[in-house]
Amino acid sequence: MTTPRRATKSAGKNQPVVLITGASQGIGAAIALTFAQEIPGVRLALVARNRAKLQAVAKACLAAGGTGLPPRESHSASLGSSRRTTGRETRATTVEAHAFACDVSNERSVTALAKAVTARFGAVDVLINNAGSFAGAPLTGMSVATFDQMIAANLRSVFLVTRAFVGGMKARRRGDIFNMSSIAGRIAYPGGAGYSAAKFGVSGLSQVMRAELREHGVRVCCVYPGATVSPSWAGSGVPEERMMPTEDVARAFLDIYRLSRRTVVEEIVLRPQLGDL
Ligand SMILES: NC(=O)c1ccc[n+]([C@@H]2O[C@H](COP(=O)([O-])OP(=O)(O)OC[C@H]3O[C@@H](n4cnc5c(N)ncnc54)[C@H](OP(=O)(O)O)[C@@H]3O)[C@@H](O)[C@H]2O)c1
Repeated sequence: MTTPRRATKSAGKNQPVVLITGASQGIGAAIALTFAQEIPGVRLALVARNRAKLQAVAKACLAAGGTGLPPRESHSASLGSSRRTTGRETRATTVEAHAFACDVSNERSVTALAKAVTARFGAVDVLINNAGSFAGAPLTGMSVATFDQMIAANLRSVFLVTRAFVGGMKARRRGDIFNMSSIAGRIAYPGGAGYSAAKFGVSGLSQVMRAELREHGVRVCCVYPGATVSPSWAGSGVPEERMMPTEDVARAFLDIYRLSRRTVVEEIVLRPQLGDL
């Protein structure tokens, strides 16, 4: 854990606090930008291990804040986005965004994160458990260390971070939790011993969370995306056009969050229009 960095000046204290893990790039960064664009005054807690990249995302969120428009081309490019704009839009400075460097698979690190986020923002309204990583190998070729790392980054992290922040939601009888699974958490693929097992685990953990938390006003949504353009696909040779843009996946989070509190979207499956890879 490192000290949070102040990224903007003004913020609405009544605006939602949205914590996004894995916000330093890819889908997590796109979710941060989408919430920054669409919710004036949103307070973003951006979490990942790479502090410099988080700070770049925080800056992009500030630039995009409250405009309802995508960020400038330079930001989009660095975040793996495929959208392009002129960069001449008027920008509001009502968003607050802070970088919290943390390994979300490490219990002590997450305890320190909870302390730092609570001190800066108070309780979290929306928790987006997006952090994850992928390493594939056949069952007999996968090292124990790689298997453990897949479980830690993709599943243990969801348990640790949720446990750290759900108390505030229960106390206020309101909250939203999004857990990032994958199509690989619904369909088994060869080579997915660690990743697929973890993402199936995210599905089961999400169901337990929902069963325990619905009476406390907390909605739990498990998200199953297929192939999405992000740095995790770098060097794969798969053309971007074959995958979903991060903005579409991010938009789904926002739209689900905005529904009436009488409705919960329990699961959402997003696939490239041409199907799985
Ligand atoms: N892209 C896809 O096609 C796809 C499809 C289905 C599901 N997903 C899931 O969607 C999520 C985001 O995917 P992505 O493609 O955007 O991945 P990505 O580009 O590799 O980004 C992963 C993010 O997670 C963070 N992270 C990884 N391990 C962490 C740890 N131990 N502690 C804190 N942060 C950690 C990374 O930041 P640091 O390295 O700075 O920590 C980074 O911000 C993942 O859970 C992934 O499994 C992706």
